[in-house]
Amino acid sequence: MLEVAVITVSDRAYRGEYQDLSGPKIRELILESDLSVNVTLAVVPDEREAIHAEIIKNLDKDYIFTTGGTGISSRDITPDVTKEICEKELLGISEFLRRESYNETPYAVLSRAYSGMKGKTIIVNFPGSVKAVTLCIRLILPIMEHAKEMMRGGKH
Ligand code: MTE
Repeated sequence: MLEVAVITVSDRAYRGEYQDLSGPKIRELILESDLSVNVTLAVVPDEREAIHAEIIKNLDKDYIFTTGGTGISSRDITPDVTKEICEKELLGISEFLRRESYNETPYAVLSRAYSGMKGKTIIVNFPGSVKAVTLCIRLILPIMEHAKEMMRGGKH
């Protein structure tokens, strides 16, 4: 059983100005896969302390996926907080997501999304839109089990 935490980072979703659709979309697509998983959802504002605390709270999970706050506006800080927490980088994941996303929109190059590991938890930033998370989670799902096996010391 894989344990996954999905954290939506959005001032407006946090304040209830709009409903968070991206977090639930990620959960829906994970649960539709043939993986055996538990998925939790949380919504936090684009504030360093809130993002930091929510990631730290979920470090007992196998995966943490964040959505939102990866762009270039002044309040977009999700990748910076994620990087601060991680001990190892998994740059290949973010580069892969950016490359594939580029087929959808050239603006994908404006995503500063980061991926890394803290202890045995893999943390991956996704952009905020439903369209972006739909693509990104579909790209990640096929490697989730294998990555976990490798971390447990399994064969390649
Ligand atoms: N990736 C995909 N697959 N689809 C998208 O529509 N939007 C881009 C990019 N990545 C996008 C995408 C845009 S416009 C921005 S500004 C960045 O992600 C950051 O998004 P965020 O601020 O919602 O995190």
